[in-house]
Amino acid sequence: MCGIIGYNGVSSAVPFLIDGLKRLEYRGYDSAGIAVISNRNIRQEKKKGRIAVLSSALKKRDDMCGTIGIGHTRWATHGSPTDENAHPHKSGKFTLVHNGIIENHKELKEKYLKLCDFKSETDTETAVHLINRHYSGNCIEAIAQTVKLLEGSFAMAILCEDEPETIFCVRKASPLLIGTGEEASIASDISAISSKADTLYRMADGEIAAVKKDCIEFYDFNLNKIDKERSEFSVGYAHTEKGEFDHYMLKEIYEQPEAVKRTVDSYLQNDTLNMPIKTDKPERIYIVACGSAYHAGLAGKLFFEQLLSIPVSVEIASEFRYCSPLANKKTPVIIISQSGETADSLAALREAKKKGAPTIGIVNVPESSIATESDSVIYTKAGTEIAVATTKAYSAQLSALYMLAIFFAEKWQTAEKKQLSDLTEGLRKLHICIKNALGCEEQIKEIAARFADTEHAYFIGRGSGYAVAAEASLKLKEISYIHSEAYAAGEMKHGTISLIEPGTKVIAICAPNGLNAKMQSNIDEVKARGAEIFAVTCTHETKADTCIITAEAPHPMMSISTQIIPLQLLSYHVARLRGCDIDKPRNLAKSVTVE
Ligand code: G6P
Repeated sequence: MCGIIGYNGVSSAVPFLIDGLKRLEYRGYDSAGIAVISNRNIRQEKKKGRIAVLSSALKKRDDMCGTIGIGHTRWATHGSPTDENAHPHKSGKFTLVHNGIIENHKELKEKYLKLCDFKSETDTETAVHLINRHYSGNCIEAIAQTVKLLEGSFAMAILCEDEPETIFCVRKASPLLIGTGEEASIASDISAISSKADTLYRMADGEIAAVKKDCIEFYDFNLNKIDKERSEFSVGYAHTEKGEFDHYMLKEIYEQPEAVKRTVDSYLQNDTLNMPIKTDKPERIYIVACGSAYHAGLAGKLFFEQLLSIPVSVEIASEFRYCSPLANKKTPVIIISQSGETADSLAALREAKKKGAPTIGIVNVPESSIATESDSVIYTKAGTEIAVATTKAYSAQLSALYMLAIFFAEKWQTAEKKQLSDLTEGLRKLHICIKNALGCEEQIKEIAARFADTEHAYFIGRGSGYAVAAEASLKLKEISYIHSEAYAAGEMKHGTISLIEPGTKVIAICAPNGLNAKMQSNIDEVKARGAEIFAVTCTHETKADTCIITAEAPHPMMSISTQIIPLQLLSYHVARLRGCDIDKPRNLAKSVTVE
């Protein structure tokens, strides 16, 4: 998951590196470091904590003045967050930063590096010692010999004092981009370099690059030269500011109507949905994703099955990739991902392709690996999302899934024309209904105060209500650190109800899906054990202690899009009252590029 940045130009490298690290901080933020080459000497600084800590340490250094450098922001996998474990890692004349995991680092250490003086607990340090061990005057050869020994995933940027005008890059399974323009830049993702570069190279698996400020050469791991094509940037990735909002998360919650409208408008013209997908009616559909994107998938399943009458399996990507999925050329696999770089989702996509399944990416970042490698892509147009807890990208994913289901139903003629035209009309109004739903913030603030000292919460729902519950529960726990679980309301009594005590908070999502009477019984069951019930509901009567009345969805099948809004706001305000770091919750990262 970590973020890598690099600069090779004519100005001082440090300001560029620090700016880039700030833009990459969402990938991991437990420690950070940079290295520059100055007068053929590597100089580096690394610190536990946020980029701000590194920045203040750098103010005390007057020797970090090179025009070539690399930087790293870390999300710890091997070894806790400490100054020593922060990247870069140095050995002899080399220093490097790494994103990914070197799975055979113990074996390599045992076999080749017994006498080395390791300064950290990281897997990464093995790589730099190995490069140094292979070095006999030719940097790229030492790097090529080393990478062939490494198992796992890695993107690395490497400096060597003997070649002070080059940054060496390698990639296997972890993303790395090289920007070109007046100067060369390197980054794990486009947002860090878009303001400086005109065009970019996307490194492919098994490539090594030698990045000089005015020329870049590519090789495979056997050092055969490769001709690569550059691509233009397709979207502006301006570094968004918080503006009037105190946190990116709140800003992004309020950007949801626009995000959904942009997504719908790009595929719905007049009354016709134009989607770049040719798939014939299949036997089954897989939806595969992680985190909130998986929860969008749960919603997608309901929509797809109702309109298409085809079984849909929603799979967690990290499970799908290892469970011998039954995907084949008759089972399209839809991969949902905001970043397009989530390691497990990307691996699941590759697994699906290996099995011959047609793959469809629903992706927010156009230059990402999943967007590039999927057979067809639906782009969500949420814009850059900064807060780790997703909101607007999730809403845009829901709208993309609605559109895809309607598009397939039209194409395969699996639903009544009237139903499809009602749903299409609903798509057009969806952003307005989401805007209306945002009107509940004042009520939510009051309710949030009642959650401030809560340690446990349960979300229950049926059908689409359960899909909302799953996402709402994740939102609450990830940013407020309240322990929270989501249950299909009818399942609660099979064990979890034993945890209900007088005063336990239960949030019941009463979706307009014809299951209200059943939900009321489930509410009664927990109420009888003393729970305090909050119901998220459109209009119907409920036995809850507190009602959160949400704006109506444009179509009952789209209620997930409106019912999630008050619950995103609830998580935000509860986390705020608890003094949590809302945009960068502890232990998390926005783009999870390790397994
Ligand atoms: C992380 C983020 C989540 C996101 C998940 C999947 O855990 O914090 O918000 O849903 O990764 O990410 P993706 O980029 O694939 O949607």
